[in-house]
Amino acid sequence: MTSSFADLDAFFDRTADERLADYLELLRLPSIGAQTEHEGDVRATAEFVADHFKRIGFEHVEVAPTGGHPIVYADWLHAEGAPTVLVYAHYDVQPVDPLDLWTRPPFDPVVESGRVWARGAADDKSHVHAHIWAARAWLETRGKLPVNLKIVMEGEEESGSEHLDAWIAANRDRLQANFALISDTGFYEGNKPAITVGLRGLIYMQIDVTASKVDLHSGSFGGNVQNPANAVASIVAKLKNDDGSIAVPHFYDEWRALTPRDREEFARMPLDENSVIHEHGLHSVWGEPGFSFLERRGARPTLDVNGIWGGYQGEGSKTIIPAHAHAKVSCRLVADMDPDKTLQRVRDYVASIAPPGVDVSVVKINDGMWSLTPTDHPATQAAAACIEEVFGERPYYLREGGSIPAAATFTRELGLPVVLLGFIQPDDQAHAPNESMRLDNLHGGLRTLVRYWQKLAETAL
Ligand code: BES
Ligand code: MN
Ligand code: MN
Repeated sequence: MTSSFADLDAFFDRTADERLADYLELLRLPSIGAQTEHEGDVRATAEFVADHFKRIGFEHVEVAPTGGHPIVYADWLHAEGAPTVLVYAHYDVQPVDPLDLWTRPPFDPVVESGRVWARGAADDKSHVHAHIWAARAWLETRGKLPVNLKIVMEGEEESGSEHLDAWIAANRDRLQANFALISDTGFYEGNKPAITVGLRGLIYMQIDVTASKVDLHSGSFGGNVQNPANAVASIVAKLKNDDGSIAVPHFYDEWRALTPRDREEFARMPLDENSVIHEHGLHSVWGEPGFSFLERRGARPTLDVNGIWGGYQGEGSKTIIPAHAHAKVSCRLVADMDPDKTLQRVRDYVASIAPPGVDVSVVKINDGMWSLTPTDHPATQAAAACIEEVFGERPYYLREGGSIPAAATFTRELGLPVVLLGFIQPDDQAHAPNESMRLDNLHGGLRTLVRYWQKLAETAL
């Protein structure tokens, strides 16, 4: 059956001004989940999202407390006999520092060069907005949706989804669905349509090294005590080998080897390393020998220092031996690696290489599980067909390097297959200064979503 979407597309055209204003209003809310001073803003953003779903006709709308930032729940369940989709996105955003590198203030969105520029414009308020408006298009135009929707939008994704698992487990019954749709991903290099089918997991740690109660005079004590900054550098230097592989014993024990078929699929994707270098402003591409760029991103684990500090960083000199020094270290994980096991192995190794004369601890900050989606699931195939219809090209299937802890949780806690459908262009500068969202991608995303709801109603799931 081919359906006409003329009325829904016309709705988007007719409401273009109101839609943009509404999107900009959402982007003005500084919902930085990681920073306590923004707790009220995060809460206000949750209320904004909840109010919108209520206003367009959703029911059981709730700003649910979690012990951390709230989860917004809303549903519309009047498509009798049709599939039920659990829709996920996140309304929190990353911190904005360094502020001086933003051309415009991060929470004062502007439209320029066909894009909206603001923190969260892409990741992930583009999709929060798109789901509100795709549902509204159906409800206002046709008075109903072709599928049942259960909306779950969280405010802790960017800080590790700490309270999500418990909330999902506690709401198992009312979250039953045919599958979970996660909208928090995007297109392939060159803005080619794509569906993400792989995400990496994560274990995020902090190494703390301490040697005295306060900073010491480096003349009086230098040579007679261990220096924590030197010690943290020595520990960090031993975490990786010169070829880019990870030196932690047993780190790769559970790594699932790539099959010849996996490698073929990676090799089939067009990738121009020079244009990646150019587009993202890199010095060069560098990594473990024996793997391609896409294999390293989608199917190999990593260990990276995210930040390292200690001692004096001000103007001129200050002759001290710092009392303590620190490093934030994260590992991206792939099938079949386990965050807790990896944490334990890093801990054991750090303890074994820690120099004498200092206390060293490895503290867990957050974690998330990797996930892989079967490309042949009918809900994935239906998404591919709708993308092709709107964007005019068959989507690539991508194994991405980023993490969305919710993906594994939906499968583990609710037994649901997961489809990752998102529309962000690859040069979005997510997590960096001057984040932006292309309005063409957003508009195409809206048109894809309204078609997807119809297509699913015609699909055997
Ligand atoms: N939207 C991203 C995840 C993502 C990034 C998917 C790149 C595909 C490609 C998400 O908001 C994110 O940034 N997640 C964090 C998770 C972490 C805090 C547990 C990440 O990947 O760093
Ligand atoms: Mn995101
Ligand atoms: Mn993010």
